[in-house]
Amino acid sequence: MLDYVTDKVQDETRQGEAFAPFASDLNQYKKRFYIESYGCQMNFADSEIVASILNKEGFGATRNVDDADLIFINTCSIREKAEQTVRKRLTEFKKLKVQKRGILVGVLGCMAERLKSKFLEEEKLVDIVVGPDAYRSLPGLVEEAEGGQKAVNVLLSRDETYADISPVRIDSNGVSAFVSIMRGCNNMCSFCVVPFTRGRERSRDAESIIKECKDLFEQDYKEVTLLGQNVDSYYYTDSLKVSPNGGDLEGAVTFAKLLEKVALISPLLRVRFSTSHPKDITDDVLHTMAKHENICNYIHLPVQSGSSRILQLMNRTYTREWYMGKVNRIRQLIPDCGISSDIIAGFCTETEEDHKDTLNIMEYSKYDMSYMFFYSERPGTLAQRRYKDDIPEEIKKRRLQEIVEVQGRLSLESNKKDIGKTFKVLIEGDSKKSNKDWMGRTSQNKVIVFPKENNELKKGNYVMVKVTDCTQATLLGYIIN
Ligand code: 5AD
Ligand code: SF4
Repeated sequence: MLDYVTDKVQDETRQGEAFAPFASDLNQYKKRFYIESYGCQMNFADSEIVASILNKEGFGATRNVDDADLIFINTCSIREKAEQTVRKRLTEFKKLKVQKRGILVGVLGCMAERLKSKFLEEEKLVDIVVGPDAYRSLPGLVEEAEGGQKAVNVLLSRDETYADISPVRIDSNGVSAFVSIMRGCNNMCSFCVVPFTRGRERSRDAESIIKECKDLFEQDYKEVTLLGQNVDSYYYTDSLKVSPNGGDLEGAVTFAKLLEKVALISPLLRVRFSTSHPKDITDDVLHTMAKHENICNYIHLPVQSGSSRILQLMNRTYTREWYMGKVNRIRQLIPDCGISSDIIAGFCTETEEDHKDTLNIMEYSKYDMSYMFFYSERPGTLAQRRYKDDIPEEIKKRRLQEIVEVQGRLSLESNKKDIGKTFKVLIEGDSKKSNKDWMGRTSQNKVIVFPKENNELKKGNYVMVKVTDCTQATLLGYIIN
């Protein structure tokens, strides 16, 4: 089997993960597919939808690429490096295709959407190209490709949410699952390719979300993460419930309402969500979080830059002061809330002064964790059309390094503050290093490792753990009875 490819810059350990939900499934399938995913959690969730669609059509999954008749790669376009990783992987698949005649290679996701049929010209051995809104057409496209034609569907949709498709879960921990609540994005941050690859924002039917979460809880899952590019602008109205006089929309569900509905499924089901846009997160959401113990006290609140001038060029629609105000409000309403961020170094025209503002807002916000990147110009984005990518690479990298160092210190300081405290922890499984230790997470999303001690606990249980020590990335502790 080929090696997995990881994207360490993103620090996403799941990059390139292969998917085999039916590993122990003895059904006879007409074909086997292999799917590998890159990019954000939404993309990983999409792969579960793709698996569900293919499975219904009689295709079985395999985790071994050598056994596959169909190879899919679910791609990301967010930074140039993400695309390079995918291209490298495709050259490896090409070798397989030469060795084993008849296998088909399909490119799914954001890169498929961005490059469309150009992909078929550039990567000659790709047979199928499918954008994020066209997965329902996959079985038909596979048939076309089997008949020797190149098959492409990159149509974006205004209403596709795959609401009726129950995703097939990756069997990795059986405790936590991702649930897509919306697709696309209307924000138009100037650096970002997402509005072009994933289309307009649309919210998924609230009832179908609740049902999916209930089903997960019945299958013994203990945590759901509600996913969207901008969850705070979730808004669903059932058109049948609109009042006839055209007045208030009765059945309207906002994100705060949705959160509450999911939290009420059971106090034993933890609820998380990602990503929040600082301009959209409301007091309503914060109050709902404070009210329900099972809504985790953790917010991913990307700042991108600490300079108001750069924020304006990025089209983030908030200033440095507005962002700081949001952080204050979160700390006021949810004092023990974990906050994390995304940060971009070296955006167009960024001066040393702007960069210092970024370092400074990190200190102010005391992030527990951040995803940190240097700016990578993406074709077709507003920034690419309007501004010059004028910060030399060495400067971008040096600034990124400074950001990474500040974050390292902040993470350690935040973890040190937890020493001596006791947290309710959801056990996710064995720790990576030893099967004598459990690994779990606190409400604030911090990873915590602790000895199993000879008791009857299993993954999916809640346990109280006292913190005794820490590293930059992990808390260490022991179980309190
Ligand atoms: N260059 C660098 N980082 C980017 N991101 C999005 N687009 C770019 C880009 N062109 C980062 C942002 C976003 C995260 C998912 O990726 O920080 O929040
Ligand atoms: Fe990558 Fe953005 Fe597409 Fe997610 S939505 S896969 S981060 S380009």
